[in-house]
Amino acid sequence: MQSILITGGAGYIGSHTCVALIQAGYRVVVIDNLINSSSAAIQQVEHITQTKVPFVQADVRDTKLVEDTLITYQCDAVVHFAALKAVGESVQQPMRYYDNNVIGTHSLLSAMTAAGVKSIVFSSSATVYGEPQTLPLLESHPLSATNPYGRSKLFVEDMLRDIYQSDPSWHISILRYFNPVGAHASGLIGEDPNGIPNNLMPFVAQVAVGKRSKVNVWGSDYATPDGTGVRDYIHVCDLADGHVKALNSLSQPQCMAINLGTGRGYSVLEVIHAFQKASGKKIDYQLCERRPGDVASSYADASAAHTQLGWTAHKDINAMCADHWNWQIRNPNGFAR
Ligand code: NAD
Ligand code: WQD
Repeated sequence: MQSILITGGAGYIGSHTCVALIQAGYRVVVIDNLINSSSAAIQQVEHITQTKVPFVQADVRDTKLVEDTLITYQCDAVVHFAALKAVGESVQQPMRYYDNNVIGTHSLLSAMTAAGVKSIVFSSSATVYGEPQTLPLLESHPLSATNPYGRSKLFVEDMLRDIYQSDPSWHISILRYFNPVGAHASGLIGEDPNGIPNNLMPFVAQVAVGKRSKVNVWGSDYATPDGTGVRDYIHVCDLADGHVKALNSLSQPQCMAINLGTGRGYSVLEVIHAFQKASGKKIDYQLCERRPGDVASSYADASAAHTQLGWTAHKDINAMCADHWNWQIRNPNGFAR
């Protein structure tokens, strides 16, 4: 049985991936400093899987501790989620983002090298495509960044490609997520945004539950079918399953970047309507100016994930909304951090 270190395993995508990996027969150990999460998520993972999950509350920038953890738990590979992820905040605090996301990954990779662990799955983002020049977005689309968060992802991707070039015995899978939404069907784990959500679906869910009065729809004059922004939303459990498939396919040395999306875009208004249907709640909205930095449309060409990993997303927008709603009503205050 393979043993996997999950950095950021108490977070939104990390906790769902812990469940998927345990259920696929992997052993996991989590390192998380809880800067944007709660240890309650780990307890819920244990509850869902009926498995004890070793948890080390620590920062990935503590290189020696990460090295010791890799050795103690005899880890074969790392799935690296730990990062700060708020785009607007990264513009205000770029040094904090470079420190956490870039230096943090440098520290992790140094610890892995010292411990002799050369297999990693890295959480990248469709944000590395910048303004789409062609759609759907293929992995070969030119890469660029429009904010420090995106640059931190691009920088780490480049760092991983450089490492592989200097030592082709590494096994590296770079996963570029589109827009993760939804929650585990149990309603025991889900996204728990701090303060006012920036992302669409958690905001819509808070309107549905009565925490906020209406959704501000950022832009209704885009060149899209209804004028609102189009994105490739992907159920977090499908995404988690993509990590299982990525780890399964890491047996050969490689450094490959792969999109994890459905290949299908939905507009803001389509999301609001689907959420209304799933929740049975009326969701008020108002059409507003565009949000600076937003693109009209972004959706994946998801064929490489199918051919290279044997992975495809299965859950549609109705399942994404239903599961997100189930989590929201069961946990109106999230993990109550
Ligand atoms: P999240 O904030 O819920 O999870 C990240 C976890 O990492 C948190 O539990 C946080 O406490 C932890 N963490 C942060 N810095 C750390 C550090 N220095 N040391 C130890 N732990 C640290 O975010 P998420 O949505 O689960 O995202 C996971 C990964 O996926 C991130 O790398 C993010 O950039 C990437 N990603 C997310 C999205 C998205 O929309 N959610 C999209 C694309 C990529
Ligand atoms: C989706 C659509 C908005 C909120 C961001 C990051 C990206 C990635 C995922 C990590 C857009 C519209 C939103 C609202 C709205 N994160 N919207 N009202 O912008 O595609 O991606 O999160 O890697 O890097 O940039 O996601 O959920 O914020 O927006 O109208 O209150 O919903 O304009 O069209 P986005 P989002």
